[in-house]
Amino acid sequence: MLVLGIETSCDETGVALYHTQRGLLSHALYSQTEMHGEYGGVVPELASRDHIRRVLPLISHTLDEAGFELRDLGAIAYTQGPGLAGALLVGASIAAALGFSLEIPVLGVHHLEGHLLSPLLSTPAPVFPFVALLVSGGHTQLMEVNGLGQYRLLGETVDDAAGEAFDKTAKLLGLGYPGGPALSKLADEFSRSGQPARFQLPRPMLHSGNFNFSFSGLKTAVLTLVNKQEMTQQIRGAIAYAFQEAVVDVLTEKSLSALAKTGLTQLVVAGGVGANRQLRSNLRYKAEKIGATVFYPELEFCTDNGAMIAFAGAMRLQSSEMSRQKLDNRFTVNARWDLEMQEMAPKS
Ligand code: KG4
Ligand code: ZN
Repeated sequence: MLVLGIETSCDETGVALYHTQRGLLSHALYSQTEMHGEYGGVVPELASRDHIRRVLPLISHTLDEAGFELRDLGAIAYTQGPGLAGALLVGASIAAALGFSLEIPVLGVHHLEGHLLSPLLSTPAPVFPFVALLVSGGHTQLMEVNGLGQYRLLGETVDDAAGEAFDKTAKLLGLGYPGGPALSKLADEFSRSGQPARFQLPRPMLHSGNFNFSFSGLKTAVLTLVNKQEMTQQIRGAIAYAFQEAVVDVLTEKSLSALAKTGLTQLVVAGGVGANRQLRSNLRYKAEKIGATVFYPELEFCTDNGAMIAFAGAMRLQSSEMSRQKLDNRFTVNARWDLEMQEMAPKS
């Protein structure tokens, strides 16, 4: 079956075609970051309007690239939430309209489920059960994943998400929006330059005895440093390095404890911060030492994309539970939506 995936939860319009026998056939992404960069953050109304402009041309493009036509589609999966309500509605309504006219099933997918299943698109892929570290701009969670739809929350951030902390800290360092990748680049350059570390930042909640995280204090610690120091490029690099080390340390230690607590040996890292090189190498190195394996999505599928939505939708459509579910033409979006609670999401 050919599944079209549509992702419009925030500032990326992602579209992909996944075939249940042939795998991922094509995908396309339009990032709005340049447009929002002018305002220092995502402007929801501009995001919705831009999704409207991009989504249909992207669908045509992915179909052309894979050599298919609309009438070949067997199902459509769209991001139902969580995210910006207006932006979500664009993907949901296009999916519903296409599904209605083509008389094919339309399925709402949880954005975080998309992220956490995305490493299954790569080879070698993890097999259930595994621990997932979800680190995006809006979420930081450790989950025990026992199967499709069987997610147990082990812990999460009590304040800022890891990506949000990267972005806010980058802003303090004058790195623009979205700052995560820029901050990470600066930190890596500092590290490669061989200069000694100049600052030591706290590791929040490292010994809290649970799997929760807190990153807002770290950002405040950076603010204190920024106010005290004369901001040369070198100092900026040293602060970026200290910040990245602190976040990576906490994420690594908590992920390894989650493996120990659950007795599982596979760790899946997903979400935008999963693109962070230092996090990837540190986790891989430490996990290997305890005989565990870390799985990442391809770099291009770490941040928001349509492939993860098409794939999660295809998995759900193939599962026996989904095939029994009655599909209809109503659609809804859930701007706030816990992954553990998704089976109970309101239908309309
Ligand atoms: O998963 P994602 O694309 O969107 C959400 O669902 O939130 O994640 C975006 C977040 C942003 O906060 C961005 O700064 C962060 O991921 N990010 C990074 C890196 N690449 C993206 N943070 C640290 N290092 C990176 N290389
Ligand atoms: Zn995301």
